[in-house]
Amino acid sequence: MNENEIREILQALYDTPLSSKNLLVNRDEEINSLNAICFYQPKGVYGLCGETGVGKTTILNFIEPGVGKRVYVRLTEKESKEIIIGDMLYKLAKEIEKHEEKGKLLTTAKKSIEFIIEERSETRSIGASGGIFVSGNFSKTTTHTRKFNIYHAYELLDDILNLLIEKYNRIILLIDELDKEKKEEVLIILDSLKNIFDKQGLIVILSLPFAIYREYAKDRLRWNESGNLENILKDTYFLEPLSNEQIQEVILKRLRKYPDFLDSDALYEIARYSDGNPRDALWISQQIVLNNLHKKRITGNIAVKTIKKITKKYFENSLQLTDLQEAVLNTITQYGNRNIIVKKLEEKGIKRQTAYTYINRLKENGLIIERNGQLKVSGKIFYIISK
Ligand SMILES: Nc1ncnc2c1ncn2[C@@H]1O[C@H](COP(=O)(O)OP(=O)(O)OP(=O)(O)O)[C@@H](O)[C@H]1O
Ligand SMILES: [Mg+2]
Repeated sequence: MNENEIREILQALYDTPLSSKNLLVNRDEEINSLNAICFYQPKGVYGLCGETGVGKTTILNFIEPGVGKRVYVRLTEKESKEIIIGDMLYKLAKEIEKHEEKGKLLTTAKKSIEFIIEERSETRSIGASGGIFVSGNFSKTTTHTRKFNIYHAYELLDDILNLLIEKYNRIILLIDELDKEKKEEVLIILDSLKNIFDKQGLIVILSLPFAIYREYAKDRLRWNESGNLENILKDTYFLEPLSNEQIQEVILKRLRKYPDFLDSDALYEIARYSDGNPRDALWISQQIVLNNLHKKRITGNIAVKTIKKITKKYFENSLQLTDLQEAVLNTITQYGNRNIIVKKLEEKGIKRQTAYTYINRLKENGLIIERNGQLKVSGKIFYIISK
């Protein structure tokens, strides 16, 4: 490949959320369901959950309800609940500032922006000077929370949402990146916004951490007296990882200008590595390109060699496997069925109960995963242990 071709291939494989349908694989169902909610439901808060890189932002980009007004807000600030809610207000107000030319909505948005900027610079300076008097460590979070006027933030958020609904009848508020917070923090934030979000004509869709889906699915969490998840979220959607075939399609679509660059075995290995996560597939594909700059074509063998090299470099040091763990992992690479795996381990002299315990622990640690009832060594580990 020449320099320009390599640049083009790397560009095509670059990891960024999609916004045009020609590269999108699958997900019609999720997108259609969410669009239907936006169109038909009177109100409510909905969650979109999934592991990082599985495609949450991409899905949010494709939400086009066809009624009312769609507002996308991407959170970036993380220190505390107050800061996150302030960030939400700020980003929402900024969006409004972009498209409103005059009126009460614009005035309230401007007021909100000013309030957040002032509040944040004030809390910052107080936090800094506090450090002079208070010796030792002082936590950023406590200095922020002490000062930030969260009640005023709630009021402004409430005003803005009411004005938006008044003007557009229906508001689709998409809040992205809440999934980067800890589960407990997210629950507290959602609970504190519950009443503000409870408005006729307001549909809120949030990207949420995977852990929240798990709890929601269990459906009986009583995380504190003020309520459980069910009563905060109307419904949650979980983005399953893509299938191996779909991952291959993701890569092929992006490389349509170079359809022969990766042969089918190489594509298979990329999919095997990714465990259905498109981000991981794009990342390892880029690594394969960068490690084989002079090759015209990437075969399965080349792909395996590179993946082994990369996984070794990144993961081996943080992974200390005992002989027993390795035996269990190797058995799982050959058999997917839990009972058969346990039987095979028993044949090797490992007690039944020990085998089950090891399997469960490896699963908890993410070294093995379960898909459609079958156990499987995770792609990253698979290439480290396979000889
Ligand atoms: N259905 C899909 N078809 C094709 N490519 C996809 C699909 N879903 C995600 N991707 C690609 O995978 C990568 C990760 O997607 P995205 O950024 O939407 O994930 P995310 O879940 O929002 O991740 P994060 O946790 O970092 O916010 C992007 O490069 C995106 O283009
Ligand atoms: Mg995202």
